[in-house]
Amino acid sequence: MKVDVILGLQWGDEGKGKIVDVFSPRYDVVARFQGGPNAGHTIEFDGKKFVLHTIPSGIFHRYSMNVIGNGVIIDPVIMFREIDKLREAGMKPEENLLIANRAHLILPTHRILDAAYESAKKEAKIGSTLKGIGPTYTDKYARNGIRVGNICYPGFRKMYDGLKELHMKTVNSYGFDLATFTLDGIPYNEYEAMWFEAIEKMKDLKVVDAEVFINKSLAEGRSVLAEGAQGTMLDVDFGSYPFVTSSSTVAAGVCTGLGVSPHNIGKVFGVFKAYCTRVGSGPFPTELHNETGNKLREGGREFGSTTGRPRRCGWLDLPALRYAIMLNGVDSLIMMKADVLNPFEKISVCTSYKESGKLLGSYPFELSLEGLEPQYTEMEGWNTALGSNTSMESLPAPLKDYIKFIEKFVELPVDTLSFGPDRLQTLQT
Ligand code: GDP
Ligand code: IMO
Ligand code: MG
Repeated sequence: MKVDVILGLQWGDEGKGKIVDVFSPRYDVVARFQGGPNAGHTIEFDGKKFVLHTIPSGIFHRYSMNVIGNGVIIDPVIMFREIDKLREAGMKPEENLLIANRAHLILPTHRILDAAYESAKKEAKIGSTLKGIGPTYTDKYARNGIRVGNICYPGFRKMYDGLKELHMKTVNSYGFDLATFTLDGIPYNEYEAMWFEAIEKMKDLKVVDAEVFINKSLAEGRSVLAEGAQGTMLDVDFGSYPFVTSSSTVAAGVCTGLGVSPHNIGKVFGVFKAYCTRVGSGPFPTELHNETGNKLREGGREFGSTTGRPRRCGWLDLPALRYAIMLNGVDSLIMMKADVLNPFEKISVCTSYKESGKLLGSYPFELSLEGLEPQYTEMEGWNTALGSNTSMESLPAPLKDYIKFIEKFVELPVDTLSFGPDRLQTLQT
């Protein structure tokens, strides 16, 4: 068996959580391979709504084993908030959850460093979710990090104190004061105490060599689905750097984030919205600063799942989509939120960029180039609601044309279409 992958092709929030939940009954194992609680993956069914940040989106299917891979970074406080919500809903997430002992821990001081670095950037702020993502991955690569497998060590507290002390030098130099700092509205000292309580509770969870579990599962014929977080345009190498996250969000990240060989990557499913959104700062060529942008935001309920911030909205960017497909080796496309375009009489789609009047032949190194102008093709909207008895065959003709236009441009089929947040509002070829 090989690991199939579901990942985002835009700037995150494409609807990965919903689709992983829809696909997971077909898989024995669902595994997150990168990112941390900066992710917010929404799943809706039976009138209920859950937002997951750390736990894989296969958790609602009792028979899928869910793995938090070594490439993920974990804030134990946030992870237990999720676990508690699932327990309140009558679930027993600890039964089908495994945590990689090689996954790194986000310390409370990583979150202070995130805030300190952001505030120092002034106008050039990344718009980070302030969950400590950048500083935790920095410590991982600087070989200072603390891993989940360390929590049972007698010297764990000493490791923690040593890293905190290192962080405090920077925190102090930025003029931040622990006595007044709050995390999610909680005073620092209280958050730190909660963090240690969560570490104790983590000892009752199944902490394993996740890479061995995944490879053994494959060898024994069990199917594995890898769940991406963020999106390709936020990838640390290929996204709109420096306005990116600090992990490899692309398919290659599955190999290092779960410990699987490139030979063992199977089908790659690329998820994209029928339009584009971005939350946080950074270039966004097709962004609409007008009523149309507002209509997309209101219609799509485009407010961050993790931070509640309004998402920036704009038309679908096909050159960016094609670039993302190339980087990930996508086999099959999943188009989300088609329903949000229902009320539009005309829909535009970006098909190329011009720079200073000249058509660009390749995807630009710098998306925020002065004079970069997206070129649009205008298409007819379908201007009707998509009812619950819609099928791929009975879609309105202008929607079929929109899909065909995209398929022709990127030379890949759209095999799955989502037309509402609920699990059931999904069509597959
Ligand atoms: P993720 O981070 O990629 O998992 O996406 P988010 O959960 O952050 O954001 C997607 C949002 O769109 C969530 O509020 C979903 O409930 C919602 N959603 C997903 N698919 C659809 C869809 O087809 N139509 C509509 N209207 N909403 C959708
Ligand atoms: P999901 O998995 C959308 C954005 C932030 C910021 C930049 C860096 O829900 O799609 P970070 O906290 O990583 O330092 O922030 O990346 N960002 C996301 N945007 N969806 C996400 O995750 C995101 N995770 C991070 O807004 O611009
Ligand atoms: Mg999200």
